[in-house]
Amino acid sequence: MRILGISGSNRKNGNSYLLLKEMLQDGPSIEKKIIQVAELNIKPCELCFKSCSVKPFECVIEDDFNVLFAEMKSADGMIFVCPFYFYVPSKFQAFLERLSCIDYFTQEKHGDGHNPLVGKPCLLITVSASGSSFNAFQILHHLQEFALMLRMRPVTSNSWPFIGFSAKSGDIEKGAILRETEVIEQAKELLKLLLKKMEKREKDYECI
Ligand SMILES: Cc1cc2nc3c(=O)[nH]c(=O)nc-3n(C[C@H](O)[C@H](O)[C@H](O)COP(=O)(O)O)c2cc1C
Repeated sequence: MRILGISGSNRKNGNSYLLLKEMLQDGPSIEKKIIQVAELNIKPCELCFKSCSVKPFECVIEDDFNVLFAEMKSADGMIFVCPFYFYVPSKFQAFLERLSCIDYFTQEKHGDGHNPLVGKPCLLITVSASGSSFNAFQILHHLQEFALMLRMRPVTSNSWPFIGFSAKSGDIEKGAILRETEVIEQAKELLKLLLKKMEKREKDYECI
């Protein structure tokens, strides 16, 4: 099994990345990778219409979009960590709009059955200095909508806000989140739920 952590921050090695690193470093003994959107060149969607998804799920803009999408396709489970930057950071939002556009045009041009992300479990996490509910709702709703539209399966928990996790970094500087030991422990607990879903999905496939 392979797990992919995606930091949606525009800031390299920021709190979103550090949270992922803490979650994954001593965690499960499975293949794991973290990708930082901050290190990729991802342009906004240009709504190419005719050239969009001529082949299913293919974007014609040449940049690092496919680097991240290829990693998502080969992962069995994903963790999306997105900081609150007066809503979603712009480069990560560009990635989300590109992916939603190729999904839309693939359906229009080729019909159902081409989506490589269907049923993949994912954990949705937002990071903000305050960890407030206002920030959590905005980002988690957005990530949830995106994940469901792409037919992925967000992991839910028994504690608020149920649809994911609102991580408080405590301050704006890089590394602040490392002081929030309880936040890191809570995130690690949620990782266990994600792993369970990944294992279950693998077993379900064995039975088919
Ligand atoms: C443009 C911008 C707006 C922000 N607004 C808020 C905010 O309203 N509330 C809050 O708690 N944190 C806010 N933050 C702080 C970030 O959410 C926080 O520093 C987070 O740890 C950044 O994660 P990163 O290091 O992974 O980029 C804002 C940051 C930026 C850049």
